[in-house]
Amino acid sequence: MGIYLKSRDEIEKLRRANVATATVLEACAQAAKPGASTWDLNQIAVAKLKELGAKSAFLGYHGYPAVLCTSVNDVVVHGIPRKDVVLKEGDIIGIDFGCFVEGFCGDHARTIMVGKVSPEAQKLVDATRDALAAGIAQARSGNRIQDIGAAVQQYVEARGYSVVKQFIGHGIGKAMHEDPPVPNYGTAGKGQRLNVGLVLAIEPMVNAGTHEVEVLADNWTAVTKDHKLSAHFEHSVAITEDGPVVLSQL
Ligand code: MF3
Ligand code: CO
Repeated sequence: MGIYLKSRDEIEKLRRANVATATVLEACAQAAKPGASTWDLNQIAVAKLKELGAKSAFLGYHGYPAVLCTSVNDVVVHGIPRKDVVLKEGDIIGIDFGCFVEGFCGDHARTIMVGKVSPEAQKLVDATRDALAAGIAQARSGNRIQDIGAAVQQYVEARGYSVVKQFIGHGIGKAMHEDPPVPNYGTAGKGQRLNVGLVLAIEPMVNAGTHEVEVLADNWTAVTKDHKLSAHFEHSVAITEDGPVVLSQL
């Protein structure tokens, strides 16, 4: 694969792809209400994609059958939208979406709370969002790749949660997955140096209990081994002279 450093112009294109991605995700998040099925959310994303003239990054990726990943409660990532998975008050749902605009890829995920959730669920979701922010803050030229994961891991473990190790973030550009791999754990000061022009999808998955996950028989759905809750946030972030710039926000 190799590491591709992006020009200013390419970063602007990546921003456009990521803003489209965030626009679609926001529409799905708005629809994540009690009574909606995860398939309903997928269909909203399909319609929005068309409206924006964008192309799904997920559909057909290694045979993935949908444009969204919808990961409810103990599902860590890669939940497949289904008509018979209907949201109810108190659920948390990770919604992960990616698309191509003019040949560049956006990738973004958020965990949404459905109606009023338990304080435990709220705390997990907040900690995961904040752990992502802690990781993003390390995405600076001169730092090293594991500075990101170390910051995420430290934030998460200080709160008694665990970071998933089986799935990690990645570089992003003309392809959804580029080098370097971006783990959510590590040792500060280790790994390759970060340079201006690197664009990373940083995506902590945080479990309330054990870090261990299991993939179901559909070969996609990853669940926590202890069936406790899990949350996931992802941003695509450019490393610039002025520090980290989050591309996947409206
Ligand atoms: N956003 C995820 C990732 O970064 C999901 C991709 S899995 C797919 O890898 F199969 F749905 F494409
Ligand atoms: Co990703």
